[in-house]
Parts: sequence; structure tokens; C-alpha cells
Amino acid sequence: MDKINFFPDDLNVQNQKIILRLDFNVPIKDKIIVDDTRIILCLPFIKKLIEKKAKIIIVSHLGRPNGIRDPNLSLVPIYKYLKKKLKTNTYFYVGNFDEDVKDKFSLLKEGEIILVENIRYFKEETDDDEKFSKKLASLGDVYINDAFSCSHRKQSSIHKITKFINKSFAGPLLKKEIDAINLVVKNKKEPVTCIIGGSKISTKINVILSLIEKINNLVIVGAMANNFFVYKNLNVGKSLIEKNTSEIIKKIYEKATKFKCEIIIPEDCIVGTSFEGEGESRILGQIKENEIILDIGNITINKIKKIIDQSNTLLWNGPAGYFENKNFLNGTITIAEIISQNTKEKNLVSILGGGDTLAAIKKSKNKLSFSHLSTAGGAFLEYLEGKDLPGLSVLK
Ligand code: 3PG
Repeated sequence: MDKINFFPDDLNVQNQKIILRLDFNVPIKDKIIVDDTRIILCLPFIKKLIEKKAKIIIVSHLGRPNGIRDPNLSLVPIYKYLKKKLKTNTYFYVGNFDEDVKDKFSLLKEGEIILVENIRYFKEETDDDEKFSKKLASLGDVYINDAFSCSHRKQSSIHKITKFINKSFAGPLLKKEIDAINLVVKNKKEPVTCIIGGSKISTKINVILSLIEKINNLVIVGAMANNFFVYKNLNVGKSLIEKNTSEIIKKIYEKATKFKCEIIIPEDCIVGTSFEGEGESRILGQIKENEIILDIGNITINKIKKIIDQSNTLLWNGPAGYFENKNFLNGTITIAEIISQNTKEKNLVSILGGGDTLAAIKKSKNKLSFSHLSTAGGAFLEYLEGKDLPGLSVLK
């Protein structure tokens, strides 16, 4: 397989115009950045390019504006944030990509930055439009994709731009993400355990089926597990379930038998009568008609602890319960704390991914440590599945 062309640390980029694709798709409420994790992770490389005296053109999307200039999805808050954090002249480009766009960008001096307004304000971006990609590429001498989390998108600033620019590289953050995921799928240290949670099994079925071939234990938690209970004829009351999942689950068990992967599902849970209410402990099989399963119980937590203690590599995607309500946060936080302790004390290689997982573990009062926290959602799952991501193929 061809190798990805990573940005060489010693490359001289002084006075070169670099188009840097980053993922600043962060939660923003009333023009305030709610979680800046993704931006913080990008800062060291931006600073390095400033030191190297490159001229930096940053491109990112925010949300899905579908080619419309939706003011709620403007990158202005990010621009203000960068201006504060970076000690260089930082500009904001809100114009179109017309004939004289190249002249405007040519005013940029060494070590300065232009942040381009939400690239998805242009429909051509999501269409992976040839002309638009060419125009975008004409602004720079070098292209760097440091947005692993967007690399599953076949869009101009990720994909087709590389066709029109001489030098294209993957950035250091992208490398870190790939190296971390490869620890689970390629260079793994067994036993490997994956904990998969969240609500929808249909969105994760392909990744589950692909993981089963490579790992020793698969732990299913979150609302996703409810479908397994139904499959086993256990009453789940008013819990969230997806229709027509019995075929999917049958396939999972068949494949797990074939590849000797143990499937672990919860044995007990915490139920409530509403998402906002308080919780009560239940053994599976004793759930009442008006109850909703909202977290895993202590028996399950202990079982998961034993499995984690015996593992050398662990991957976790998707919370164990309805973590938004603190009454149902315990399962997720306890799992996070066990993983963190094993990472610190027993050299467990731990990789966590997905927006919800990261948001949930932030609620822990303790300082947690993991080998790698991936900020990627869809891209993380597609890469795990073994798919060739369009944004990575073009960098090979
Ligand atoms: C993400 O948040 O996963 C990335 O920014 C990609 O966003 P998208 O799903 O809107 O393409």
C-alpha cells in the first residue's frame, strides 16, 4: 500500500504560501466557543509554520451551511480566538473566489495568517467542484491537510484541491490520529478490547463487523445494547430501540463465533421513568413497562473492569449511558477512570474517539490520562472499518 506523504519537519517553507486545511468545526453557542479542544490541538503546528516564516492560509468548515452564508456558522469567533492566541498578524477573508482573489492573498507577509471564512459557504466545496478546487489551489504553493476528522469527505478543500497544487502533505495531527488508530488495527498488542456505545447500532454496524475480525473482546454499552436485549427476548420497557436490528445482531454473533471474539453486553442497568429523572438499579429481565434504560449498573461495571484489567490495548467509542443527566453518568465516568488508571499504571494503550465520548469524560472531576484522544467522529469510524478515506488517498 502506498504511504501517506507526511509534512517533513525539516522542509524549508519560508516565504511559501501554505494552504492549511484544519477542522475548526467546534460547538459555538451565541458566538461563544463552547469547546475549543479541536482548536487547541491545531495551535502547535500553526506556531511552527509561523516560526518557519511561511505565509499561512487556513481553511476550515463549520457545520453544514449547504452553500448559504448562515451567520450562525461564521468562523468569526474562531478568528477572534486565533488573533488572541497567535502572536502574528492574523486576517480574515470573507470574499469570494473570483478572478482577483490571488492578488488579495499575495499581500500576505512571512509568518502571517489569513483565515478564510467557512469554506462550506460555497456549495462548490461540498460538490468537490473542479473549477473551485483549482481556484483554491491557486492561492498557495503547498497544501497541508491536518484535518483527519474531515478526511472521509470528498470535498474541494480536502480532496480535489490536491489535483491542482504541486506539493501536498498530511500534517502532524493527522499523523498522530492515524498512528493511534493503527495501534488497534495493525500494530496491536493483544488482548485488544473495544467498547462501543452510543445510541444507533445501524451507524456503527460496519465498524463493529470489521473490528470483530481483529480484536478479542467487544463490549456493547449505551442504548445500542438495548437491541441486543430485545434480540435475547428481554423486556426493555420504554427504552430506545432501533427497528429491524435482529439480522444485524445475528450477523454480529455469527462473525464473533467465527473470529473467536467475545461479545459482552450489560447484565444490569440503571433505569428511569424519564430522561430528566433519577435512576434506579435493575437486573436485566426485571425492567418494568414504563422504565427506560439510561445507564449500565454496577455488576456490568465490575465485569468491564475485569476485561479492561486483562487488556493491553483498548479502544472506546460512544458513552455507556445518557450522560447529559448526571444521574446516568456513572457508567461512562467509571469506565473512563478505570481506563485512565490502567493507562497510567499498567501501560494500557488506550484510544478514545467520538464527540460524545469526549464530552462525557470531560465531566469527570479527576484528571484522566489516555494514550490518544481522537477528536474525529465519522472519519475515526471509517478508518477503523478499513475504508480508504478520499482525503488520505490523495496524499499517497
Ligand atoms: C466532524 O465534526 O466530524 C468533522 O468536522 C466533519 O464534519 P461533517 O460531518 O459535517 O463533514
